This record gives sequence, structure tokens and C-alpha cells, in this order.
Amino acid sequence: MSKFMEWIDARFPATSMWEDHLSKYYAPKNFNFFYFFGSLALLVLVNQILTGIWLTMSFTPSAEEAFASVEYIMRDVEYGWIIRYLHSTGASAFFVVVYLHMFRGLLYGSYQKPRELVWIFGMLIYLCLMAEAFMGYLLPWGQMSYWGAQVIISLFGAIPVVGEDLTQWIRGDYLISGITLNRFFALHVIALPIVLLGLVVLHILALHEVGSNNPDGIEIKKNKDANGKPLDGIPFHPYYTVKDIVGVVVFLFVFCAVVFFFPEMGGYFLEKPNFEQANAFKTPAHIAPVWYFTPFYAILRAVPDKLLGVIAMGAAIAVLFILPWLDRSPVKSMRYKGWLSKLWLLVFCIAFLTLGVLGVLSPTPARTLLSQVCTALYFAFFILMPFYTRMEKTKPVPERVTG
Ligand code: HEM
Repeated sequence: MSKFMEWIDARFPATSMWEDHLSKYYAPKNFNFFYFFGSLALLVLVNQILTGIWLTMSFTPSAEEAFASVEYIMRDVEYGWIIRYLHSTGASAFFVVVYLHMFRGLLYGSYQKPRELVWIFGMLIYLCLMAEAFMGYLLPWGQMSYWGAQVIISLFGAIPVVGEDLTQWIRGDYLISGITLNRFFALHVIALPIVLLGLVVLHILALHEVGSNNPDGIEIKKNKDANGKPLDGIPFHPYYTVKDIVGVVVFLFVFCAVVFFFPEMGGYFLEKPNFEQANAFKTPAHIAPVWYFTPFYAILRAVPDKLLGVIAMGAAIAVLFILPWLDRSPVKSMRYKGWLSKLWLLVFCIAFLTLGVLGVLSPTPARTLLSQVCTALYFAFFILMPFYTRMEKTKPVPERVTG
């Protein structure tokens, strides 16, 4: 075996890659629950790619046959139903995991110097994931696929001068048609997954360049032993590979429970109107995007003007990119930040979740008012951050991690 590895290593950096990224990658020893979600995101990514490949084998990307081919997969293809449910549940699981992963970043200041690029690559992944989910949703050609895409694509029409031409260019037609379905299929199964995979590699390379943050927000590279190993670090493999397996097992229990017992999740993972084939002449009574887009959809609806609504929705995502430069706190982790940071993070989470709920419901004057308040709070969290993070009194950060 060692002769074989010598042969390989003379031609390809297999052993050094294994050491750099696993067996000699020192990670802080105080990782907690929130550090499960990076490896879980990788697991879900693999699930989506594998089940996606198998779905593609039996799916027909045409307006005439797409809906029927999904029914064929569900009823006739061997194990087709489980492959489809793994993929549709995987889409929602992806966002659950990624939202918790991002929340961890907010909690422990993982976006702060020197991890700005880790965060930016993460945000690009998030954008790519949203595009991937949006395009995948059109493919089964159900009523909500069709009308959801209709609502979102028509938003581009609000852009002055080029808006109308742009929507036509995206659709490839005067209305959403088989042509749109075909291009979304191409982007969903090949173009975006390639970009996504590339971004994930860049995300992890950037992280391993600077090293992982931790719940104390302490740079473990500052305290090294005589051999240059961080005193508060442990090799990723075997310690965290084993810990991550525990996370994977627990996650799979929950995930399989959903796949086998609640694949539609009461209409949140697979929406009810999508069991009816797309019909350009019949608008569903209530159009709402899938749950993971609803906070941004609620922001869009909170603004009375269409163009300003689109700008607000775009800004709600764009502002996350500059987060590393908005946080002026001398400390990273919420454990050592002052009460203002803690309060604003809580307000932000409540506003985001409330917007998520409001985005599912049909608008009433009271709900619109509430969504306007939540939109204002959402943006206030970011706009005021340079001020409250500098004003507040922080707690002293210990030299070594506390566990
Ligand atoms: C496909 C989606 C993603 C995958 C597979 C992924 C993967 C990972 C992995 C494996 C880690 C190291 C383990 C860990 O810290 O949990 C990590 C760390 C990190 N990720 Fe992601 N990630 C994804 C999306 C995102 C997004 C959307 C963001 C934020 C916008 C983000 C921000 C971060 C940050 C800041 C860290 C460093 C955390 C720390 O050291 O405390 N990631 N990611």
C-alpha cells in the first residue's frame, strides 16, 4: 500500500491534500451544535446531485410531457417515488441547513476579518442555491411552478427601459412556455450545479487558508505549542469526522422521517396547486413561493411601488454581502459582544421569521403593515450595525477557548 501511495504522491498531491485538509487541519476544540451544518450542507448537496441525476433519467423537459413524466416517475419507475421525495425534501432541507449555517456566522462573527472571503463565497453559494431552487421548481410543470415563475420573472419588467425586453429574453417567449422550461432544465441540471460545486470548493479552500472560527471567536493560531500546533486545536480527522458522523445520523433520522411520512409537509415542501398541471388560462387563487423564499417575497410586497419593491428585495440580499464591513465590534462572538448586538440579532431573527410567515399568507392591510415594520427592522439591523457595534461595551475575551 505504501509503495502504491509513493507512486501516486510522486504524481499527484494525494497525501499532502489529505493532511492539509483533514488529518493535519487543526480545528478549534470547542465546536458546538452549530458547527454540524457545514458538513450537513455538503451531505445534502451530494444527495441533490445523485437523486437529480436519477430523476433526469426519466424526466422529459417539455411542456407537453413534463407533468406526466413526473407522475410516471412517481408511479411506474422502480423506486422513482423515493428518488423524487429525496430530491424535493432535499431542496427544503438544503435551506434549513444553510439558514442555520448562516445564523451560526451571525452568532459567532465568522464573517469578520480574516474570514470575509469565506462569507462572500458563502453568499454567492446562497444566491446560486436560490437560482437553482427557483429553476428546479418550474420543471414539474404544475400550476404553482408556472404561476410562481410567472410572478418572479415578471418582476424584471419593473426595471425601467429594458424591463420588458429582459423578461422576454429570460422566458425566450412572450409567455412562460416549453422554451422557458427547456432552458431552466439546462441551467438546473448542469450550469448551476457546476457553479455551485466550484463555489463550495472555493468556500472551503478560503476557510482552510485562514482556519475555522469558533463559539468564542478566538484565533487559535495565536497560541501554538513548540511544534507549531495550535494549543486549542485538534486534528479535523479523526476527531471532527467522527463528531460529524453523529450529526449525519441524527439528521438522516429526521430527514427520512419527512421523506417517508410527510413528504409534502402540509403543502410547504410540495405545494398543493402543483398536483395540477400548469394551465396558462387558470390563475391559482393564491400564489406564494416555497417557504424558503417567503421572507424576501414579503419584503417585495411590503413596498407599495413595484420597482421599489424589487429594489428592496434585492437590497435585502445584497446587504448581507457587506456584513463583514458593517460589524465594527472589536470582538467576534455574541458571547463577548454587548447587549445591543444581542438585542438586534434577536430583533432581526424575529423580523426575518415573521416575514417568512407573512410571505406565505395572502395580504390584508394589517399584515401589510406588519410586513412593513418587519422590513424596516430587517434593514435597521444592518444599517445601525456600524453604530451599535462600536458604541456598546464588550466583555473581555479570554486568551484560550472556554469550551
Ligand atoms: C452548499 C452550501 C454550503 C456548504 C456545502 C458549506 C460548507 C461549509 C463547511 C464544510 C464549512 C466548515 C464547517 C463548518 O464550519 O460548519 C463551512 C464554514 C463556513 N461557511 Fe459555509 N457552506 C455553505 C453555504 C454557506 C453560506 C450560504 C454561508 C453564508 C453566507 C456560509 C458561510 C460560512 C462561514 C462564515 C464559515 C466559517 C464558519 C466558522 O469558521 O465559524 N456557508 N461551510
